[in-house]
Order: sequence, then structure tokens, then C-alpha cells
Amino acid sequence: LGCGSGPLSEAIWRRTAGQVAEVVGVDCAAVNVRPYEDLRTSLVANPDRLRFVCHDFSAGLGLFEHGRFDHAVSGLSISYAESWDQERREWTQTAYDRILAEVGRVLRPGGRFVFSVNVPSPSWARVGLSSARSLITTTGTMRFLKKSWRMIRYGAWLKREARAGRFHYLPHAEVTAKLQAAGFTNIEHRVTYAGQAYLFRALSPS
Ligand SMILES: C[S@@+](CC[C@H](N)C(=O)[O-])C[C@H]1O[C@@H](n2cnc3c(N)ncnc32)[C@H](O)[C@@H]1O
Repeated sequence: LGCGSGPLSEAIWRRTAGQVAEVVGVDCAAVNVRPYEDLRTSLVANPDRLRFVCHDFSAGLGLFEHGRFDHAVSGLSISYAESWDQERREWTQTAYDRILAEVGRVLRPGGRFVFSVNVPSPSWARVGLSSARSLITTTGTMRFLKKSWRMIRYGAWLKREARAGRFHYLPHAEVTAKLQAAGFTNIEHRVTYAGQAYLFRALSPS
């Protein structure tokens, strides 16, 4: 969910040596069609087994039937499920609660949901610093500085919107309570990503 250009889809494919039946990446940004096409042609003998679906998950996952998937994975994405209450003229957490319930619905009973979400008020500077060495090596110093500057500016906007209630950087206890309310069990989490994210693991309702 919120697969972007597909790094997690690729990792799942490679780590399982292509033994997964199918990987479906969902993201609202159509621009990701292209990198998925590249992945399909470079990685997979039968391209139908690695697919990209352009979809806004704030509206739920109605395009997938009940129990469709064994497992679900999401990296730093579900915090951006957004819902606006026109009557009260305010952002709500309805879409966030809905996406958790929807993941529970599309997973088979006991399927695993593994996802990361940012901590409240994340420090993008710390995230940038923690990835500095590998980014400088792969992209060069100037590109690293440009990328960092963009991330910090964009990150400041994200945090402003989160303060307004549009996005959801929630304390881990709140995420756990929401997972429980959606019927998930065996909920565990740990801090990751330079202390700026939680990595959760939970089992879907049986
Ligand atoms: C921080 S990026 C993470 C991308 C990817 N998971 C990764 O690890 O590289 C967040 C992703 O969530 C997607 N996203 C944000 N809101 C979304 C929504 N409502 N529905 C679907 N995708 C969404 C964005 O387009 C973006 O690709």
C-alpha cells in the first residue's frame, strides 16, 4: 500500500526468489506505472504476477475482494489516508481507520500486515543524516544536498498538515488501539528509521 516506485514489491519478489504467487502494488500516483513496467520486464517471467494498481486508498480497497491476499505490506504510507468532513469543516481520522479495517477485510484470516508509519512530529533532518552515507555514494554530494533540502521543505509541509489533522503521525499506542479496533491480533512494534518511524506487525482478524 503506497508502494511508490516499488522497492518493497521488488524486495518481496527477490527475497522469496519469485516464489510468491503474485505481488500487487497500490499507489495513488500514476507516475509509478513506469517503474513497475521496468520491474515487470526485468524481474518476472510472467508479468501478470507483479502488478501496479493506481488507486487512492483513502477511499478503501473496494477493488479487492474479501480475503484476496495472504499478506499486506506498507512503507510510510498509510499516515496519508485523508478524509475531510464537509459539515464540520475539519480533517478526520475516518480514512485512517477505514484503511486498517479494509486491510483486515482483504487479508485471509491470520494473514500478516507489516507496515511502517512515522512517529509524531518526525525529524526529517535525522532521516536525511541517517541515509547520508549511502545517498552520497550512490548519487553524489550535490544531488544528496538537493534531495535533502527538498525532503526537509516537503517534510515541513507534511508536518503542518499533520498538525491540522489531515495526515496522521500517531503515537504507537494509538496505532495499536486502532489495529485492535479493526480486529487485528498479535500486534507488535519497534522503533526504526533513525528513530523516526514505527514498524508494526499484526495478524488479520480470523
Ligand atoms: C513516503 S512514500 C513511500 C513509498 C514506498 N512505500 C517506499 O517505501 O519507497 C509514500 C507513498 O504513499 C503514496 N500515497 C500517499 N497517499 C496515498 C493514498 N491516499 N492512496 C494511495 N497511495 C498514497 C504516495 O504516492 C507515495 O508513493
